[in-house]
Amino acid sequence: MEKSFDAMVSSFKEFVKRIKQYEEALAVIYWDLRTGAPKKGVPGRAEVIGMLSTEVFRMSTSTEMEEYLGYFTKEENSKLLDNIMKALVKEYKKDFDRFKKIPEEVYKEYVILTSEAESVWEEAKNNNDFDLFSPYLEKIVSFNLKFIEYWGCKSNKYDTLLDYYEPGMTVEKLDKIFKELREKIVPLVSKIKVSEHQPDDSIFKKDFCIKKQDDFSRYILEKMGYDFEAGRLDESEHPFTIGMTPGDVRITTHYYKNLFSSALFSAVHEGGHALYEQNISADLNGTALCTGTSMGVHESQSRLWENMIGRSYEFWKCYYPELLKVFPEQFEGVSLDEFYRAINKVESSLIRVEADELTYNLHIMIRYEIEKALINQEIKVADLPRIWNERMEEYLGVVPTNDAEGVLQDVHWSGGSFGYFPSYTLGNIYSAQLLNAIKRDIPDLSERLSNGDMLVIKEWLADKVHKHGKLLTPAEILKSVTGEEIEPKHLVQYLEDKYTQIYKL
Ligand code: CO
Repeated sequence: MEKSFDAMVSSFKEFVKRIKQYEEALAVIYWDLRTGAPKKGVPGRAEVIGMLSTEVFRMSTSTEMEEYLGYFTKEENSKLLDNIMKALVKEYKKDFDRFKKIPEEVYKEYVILTSEAESVWEEAKNNNDFDLFSPYLEKIVSFNLKFIEYWGCKSNKYDTLLDYYEPGMTVEKLDKIFKELREKIVPLVSKIKVSEHQPDDSIFKKDFCIKKQDDFSRYILEKMGYDFEAGRLDESEHPFTIGMTPGDVRITTHYYKNLFSSALFSAVHEGGHALYEQNISADLNGTALCTGTSMGVHESQSRLWENMIGRSYEFWKCYYPELLKVFPEQFEGVSLDEFYRAINKVESSLIRVEADELTYNLHIMIRYEIEKALINQEIKVADLPRIWNERMEEYLGVVPTNDAEGVLQDVHWSGGSFGYFPSYTLGNIYSAQLLNAIKRDIPDLSERLSNGDMLVIKEWLADKVHKHGKLLTPAEILKSVTGEEIEPKHLVQYLEDKYTQIYKL
C-alpha cells in the first residue's frame, strides 16, 4: 500500500535529518583537525572523513532521495507542501541534480585531482613555482567546463558557477556592480595614498600578552551577544567558524604576540558569522535550511561586525577605555582618535587576506576578472601571472615581485572553487545596505553604540536576517529589509564618508 502524504513528509524529514547528522559529525572532526588533533591520529581521522562524506554523497544521490523528490515535485503533492518543505525539496533537488548529472567516475577523478592539487599548490607557493601548479589548474578548469555542460550552461558559462555560491547572481549584474565600485574606490585609494594625514599603526607592533588578548576577545564577543554556552573560542592557524547546530557554533582566531589588531578583529569577524548560525529559527534545525542563505550574506554578517561596528569610532569610544585597562603600557599616550585612525589604515598591499576594508574589494575584482575570462576560455592558465600583475598595477598600484605573493597566494583555485571570490565583496555591499536599514530602524544607534550596547544590533539582525536561515533567498532577505535589490552605492557612500574624515581628504 502507498504511504500517505503525511507519512511521506515525516519519513523524508527523518531521512534528511540523518544526512544532517553525518554532516554534523564531519564538522566536529574538521574542527578537531584544525584546533590541535594529535598528529598521529590524523591519518585515521582522514579515513573517517572519507567514510562519512561518501555516505552523505550516497544518500543525497540515492534512489530513495530520487523517489522522495519525484513524489514531492508532482503537482498534486507539491501544492500541499508548507514553506519549509517547499524550500527543503528545492534545496535537496539542487544538490541531487548537481551531483547526479556528473558521471560517477568523472566526479571521482575530480575529487582525486583536487586533493592532489592542494598539496601541489602549497609546494608551488612555497617554492614560488607557478609552472609546477599550472598543469593542475589547467585540468581543474577543463573539469569545470565539463561540469558546466552537465549542469546546463546559462547565458554566460561563469553564471553556472556563481549561482552555486550566490543564488541569482550573474556576470551581467556583477560586471555592472563591480565597475561602479571600482570607479569610486580606485580614485579614493589614490587620494588616500598622497594624503598628509597618514595614521600610525606602529602602535600595534608591541608586546601583547596572548592571555590578555584572549580575555579581551572573549569580553567583546560576549558584548556582541555571542553565546558561549552554544559555542567556544579556540586558536587555529587560519581563523574560521564552524556550525553544527544553533546550539553549537564554534569559532577560532589566531594570536600574534607582537601584533595586537589581528586576533581581536578575526574574533569579531568570526563572531559575526557565528551569530548568524546561532540565531537560526529552531524550526529549521536538522535540515539543510539551518545555515546561512548564501556565502555573500554570511560574509555580510562578519564584515558588518568586523568593519562597520568593530572599526567604528562609537564602538571604541566605549571600549577603548576598557582596552587601556588591559594594555596600559602598550597604549600609553595613544589617544582614542589616534587608535581609531590606526585600526582603519588603508594601504595598497599584495596580499588579499591582509588587506583593509577599502582595498580588499580591488583584490576580489582581480580574481573575478581572471576567473570569468578563464571559464569563458578567453585567456589561458599560462597567461595568469602576467595578467595578475597587470591588474595589480592597474587597480592597486603595486606589483608582486614573485608569484608566491601574486597569483599563487590563495588556496581556492586548487580546490576548484571558481565563483566563490565575489561573495566577499557582495558581503561588503550587503553589509552597507543592512547598516543603513539598522540606522533607519534604530535612530539612536550611534548613542547606543557609544554606550557599548551591541545587543540591539544582534537582535535586529537575528530578527531580520538570521532566523530565516536558508528559507529565504539573498534577494528576498535584502528586499524585505531594505526594500531594494543589491545596490553598491551604499557601500561607496559609507567608504567615502569614513575615509574622507579619517584622511582629511
Ligand atoms: Co568570513
